[in-house]
Amino acid sequence: MLRTFWHYLGETQPRLLRVVHILIAALVIGQIINSNATQVEAITDISAGVLVFLCTWLHIIAGSVLVILGFALLFYVLVLRGFRYYFAWLMGDFSAIFADLRTLARFRLPEASAGGIAATVQGLGVGALLLVALSGAIGVALYLMGYAVGFNVIHWHKFLTGLIEVYIFAHSAMGLLHFALRQFLPVKRE
Ligand code: HEM
Ligand code: HEM
Repeated sequence: MLRTFWHYLGETQPRLLRVVHILIAALVIGQIINSNATQVEAITDISAGVLVFLCTWLHIIAGSVLVILGFALLFYVLVLRGFRYYFAWLMGDFSAIFADLRTLARFRLPEASAGGIAATVQGLGVGALLLVALSGAIGVALYLMGYAVGFNVIHWHKFLTGLIEVYIFAHSAMGLLHFALRQFLPVKRE
């Protein structure tokens, strides 16, 4: 099944994009789970417990890898498909979104297309990933430099993770639904 999903992704994504994409997905899920055992003070103080200290630093290191991978994904997809594919709405072009809505109204599932709903959500998802990862990294850097404002930025970081949580649920649900329909149901798609 995993192999079939890998090949399914390969219909639209080159191998390197699939590798970066899966790494990001796994690391983000890991960050959300691991964040239950993190604490700001544990960055510099081990007295909260070794486990909390280790989880906090694991969160910071994996998060820093995500900053790099997030930018890599952004530049990769922009070079691959262009700005307009993901951000047509920013140029006032909503035509592909309306076309997808019309397809949905006919109870058909629209495929990802330039400027369409899927591409728009994916563009916003990469933005959310960068916002979350950068806010974490900047907050920790400020905290380590002794600026109290670091606490505020980390507070915003926690708030912003809501965006990526919503995105990962919605985006993976739609991705897996497309895959499942293709595999198990002879549904006519557009
Ligand atoms: C996409 C990447 C990331 C995700 C999904 C994520 C997720 C989270 C979540 C859900 C929390 C809240 C934990 C709580 O409520 O106690 C949190 C806290 C935190 N994150 Fe991240 N994070 C990411 C990247 C980063 C990065 C890059 C850094 C720093 C380099 C970082 C540093 C922190 C710190 C210091 C806290 C506060 C710890 C606490 O009070 O529990 N995070 N993160
Ligand atoms: C924060 C984590 C994630 C980010 C930032 C992300 C981002 C993206 C982006 C930018 C694309 C479009 C690539 C392209 O144009 O070819 C994409 C496509 C896709 N993603 Fe994710 N993704 C994440 C997590 C996941 C997860 C967890 C799953 C499923 C379990 C998933 C399933 C898919 C599928 C099936 C596609 C192909 C859809 C299409 O044909 O456009 N993604 N993702």
